[in-house]
Amino acid sequence: MSTMPKRMLLNAFSMNCVSHIQQGLWVRDDTRQLEYTQIDPWVELAHILEKGCFDALFLADVVGVYDTYKGGPETSIIEGMQIPSNDPSLLVSSMAHATKNLGFAYTSSIYQAHPFTFARQMSTLDHLTRGRIAWNIVTTYLSNAALNYGLGGLPPHDERYDLADEYLEVTYKLWEGSWEDDAVLSDTVRGIYADPSKIHQINHTGKHYHVAGPHLSEPSPQRTPLLFQAGSSTRGRSFAAKHAECIFISESKDSLQGESNVINDIRSQAKQLGRRPEDILFFQGISPVVGGTEAEAMSKASDYIDQFSTEGSLAHLSGGIGIDMGVVDLDQRLDTIDPQSMRGFIKSLIESAPDKKRTFRDLIRNRMAGQFLTGTPEQIADALEEWQQRGVDGFNIVYSVTPGTFVDFIDGVVPVLQSRGLVQREYSPGPLRQKLFGAPKLPDRHIGASYRQLT
Ligand SMILES: Cc1cc2nc3c(=O)[nH]c(=O)nc-3n(C[C@H](O)[C@H](O)[C@H](O)COP(=O)(O)O)c2cc1C
Repeated sequence: MSTMPKRMLLNAFSMNCVSHIQQGLWVRDDTRQLEYTQIDPWVELAHILEKGCFDALFLADVVGVYDTYKGGPETSIIEGMQIPSNDPSLLVSSMAHATKNLGFAYTSSIYQAHPFTFARQMSTLDHLTRGRIAWNIVTTYLSNAALNYGLGGLPPHDERYDLADEYLEVTYKLWEGSWEDDAVLSDTVRGIYADPSKIHQINHTGKHYHVAGPHLSEPSPQRTPLLFQAGSSTRGRSFAAKHAECIFISESKDSLQGESNVINDIRSQAKQLGRRPEDILFFQGISPVVGGTEAEAMSKASDYIDQFSTEGSLAHLSGGIGIDMGVVDLDQRLDTIDPQSMRGFIKSLIESAPDKKRTFRDLIRNRMAGQFLTGTPEQIADALEEWQQRGVDGFNIVYSVTPGTFVDFIDGVVPVLQSRGLVQREYSPGPLRQKLFGAPKLPDRHIGASYRQLT
């Protein structure tokens, strides 16, 4: 008996800024990154993604500048590397108005908005999008972001996750517990909009927040937005196991072999919390470079690699890991660098290089080039199937040029995946969570559901 193949999920990964992941390519004629301040390219992108049956557009965000590289923000500023960077949430309404089914996941740090304000913004967007909104929960890794919110510096890693736990608790209480399902009467005959006995204060008093409530928004289609997260540390994984419904990973194929890989680990932790393995979906990040022939794809990729900005990439990496990669001379041969004088990350990077006669610049460029998944539509579809066989549920497509990378993927790879029965040909009905999990609200076994009123 043949079984139906599992549906492969697709997200487009972007950011409301000039240069997001593939640094240096914004200067090209075939990308619209310079138009990021305008609504038109975003609405066009939403149309393209919906035509390609993508599940969601995922918008990254940061609330500070990357200023670790060479001890300052100059490189990031020169490279347009996530600065300037505009608020992603404000793009959503216009894109939602232009589409019917595409989901919108945007990033918001627990440090950038009070949970009461944030919960109301999310509920508003969940109403306006008819339930197509998702939240990428981040705890922030940039120390400049912490300085922007008066924290004096970045709080220790695990403390940030502790704060996130309480932040989530407040928002669950507002989204799930404040208004009962039948609170809104909208009774024009009796002139009663809502029933006060069914709307509750939340009276949250915690370590960090004191919130009385009630929530100001009435229940939206999903109530709690679909919850995305990307945590790879031990604490990050336990947080994900408790809260996340969709998880971003950036793993090598090899690292997904073996029992103790990140997917199995998070799923088994979730199980211990009363959740089911299928309550969590994993999205692997990929950078596809599609060509009509393999040679065409390779030539496109080598064009991109020629234009890569090593400095922009190092500024990105340095900020992300909190280590200044600018301490190494880019043109120094690897075998002349004394690894003992370097921080652990840089040391292991240098030690991992197969050819020590190359320079540090070569090493970084190879690392960037190594992120590409280059080939014909069939070759890329084969590679995605392999990922899927290793337990990945979907992909987060990283662009090199926008919307070109998405257009090439949708015109070339999506039809191949559809013919293999792997990608949907049309959307299923309902809110985003229903499209992914079959029901619009959080399942009863999710921690957020425990804050619902017992009726
Ligand atoms: C695909 C992906 C997207 C991410 N997007 C953002 C983002 O937009 N903003 C942000 O501050 N952090 C972002 N992160 C970083 C994560 O939130 C998190 O800090 C990182 O994965 C490290 O997790 P850990 O602290 O548990 O090790 C992203 C991570 C991944 C893998």
